[in-house]
Amino acid sequence: MAEKFAAAGMSLFGYGALADLAPFLKRNTIKKVLIVTDASIRKLGLLKPVQTALMDGGAESVVFDGVMSNPTLENVSAGVKLMKDNECDGIVAVGGGSANDCAKAICILEANGGELRDYVGGNKAKEKGKYLIAVNTTAGTGSEVSRAFLISDEKEKRKLIFKDDYAMPDIAVNDVQLMMNLPASITAQTGMDALTHAIEGYISTGRFALTDLLAKDAIKLIYDNLELVVQEPHNKIAREKMSLGQYLAGLSFGSSGLGLVHAMAHQLGAEYHLAHGLCNAILLPVVMDYDLNYCPERFAEIARILDADKCIGKNSEECAFYAVELVDKLSEKVGTKVWLDDFGVKEEDLSHLAERALEDGCILTAPHIPEKEEIIKLFKKVMRS
Ligand SMILES: [Fe+2]
Repeated sequence: MAEKFAAAGMSLFGYGALADLAPFLKRNTIKKVLIVTDASIRKLGLLKPVQTALMDGGAESVVFDGVMSNPTLENVSAGVKLMKDNECDGIVAVGGGSANDCAKAICILEANGGELRDYVGGNKAKEKGKYLIAVNTTAGTGSEVSRAFLISDEKEKRKLIFKDDYAMPDIAVNDVQLMMNLPASITAQTGMDALTHAIEGYISTGRFALTDLLAKDAIKLIYDNLELVVQEPHNKIAREKMSLGQYLAGLSFGSSGLGLVHAMAHQLGAEYHLAHGLCNAILLPVVMDYDLNYCPERFAEIARILDADKCIGKNSEECAFYAVELVDKLSEKVGTKVWLDDFGVKEEDLSHLAERALEDGCILTAPHIPEKEEIIKLFKKVMRS
């Protein structure tokens, strides 16, 4: 079967890259856009530079800042209404994964009508929507270069998963200037999310040569810079390396798929409204420890990428365990090694969470699909009780 690789139509990189939006807006005569974001991005002062860049390109903007950390069907409907009421001819996501997911959903629903649930799954949309620009403010979810998006169905307490070629942003902007003031906790959580993307992309059964190359560089860049950027938020070079690492990770998993960490993390997000990056960070080491039984050589290679010198003289099995140890230590250093109980996760919910994880599309490319009881055990490993 052919290997299919997807990426945003164009990517803008570097400090001040936002300024390069203007020629695109002018060339495509985009006059009014819907900015999709959340209140914290506005509070951090990140909307102003985006609006300035839009104005330089001749585009007005209408702001929808109601995106929740796990965006909901209601968020999407509100965004579509605002877009139609204001006759917008483009959408600009400003934020991390939540803003991007919501913007992609608005783009698909505005163009295709009906209910968002109609488009669950792969390539269900018939029409490509309006121009979609993803301005990333975290490093990050890689969502700016992915066709996938997740929306929470609040009534069902379930994440709806979509993967549609028409949801791929036309432009992805990674301007480090917007990331310099990101709080340490968000930097740590989104960075661990990016590391999870790179590792799950690398061990995914959907991987191929190109996704491997991207994942390997992503693993190295993120591992080498995450702790530094948490300690030194204004370290421009480290921020740039994290931005590149998360971007490569996004390109990798966007075409190879993810795995068990995400399949489990999505359920915690849907049930308890926990931040996606934090859920992945908590689960990553224990799931790696489980997955390494099914692709030990891959994990040994991850250890060699992370710390080649210490792998000299170790056999593959020892290296594979060492990879888990290094990731676990990194999580501890950046403050994401915490217990699920502290966030309200209850033992009596685990059976239901495990069932939902088995229905999650991300599990399809995991190195091995576990039994329900095994998933429950993995959840228990990150609980005190
Ligand atoms: Fe993720």
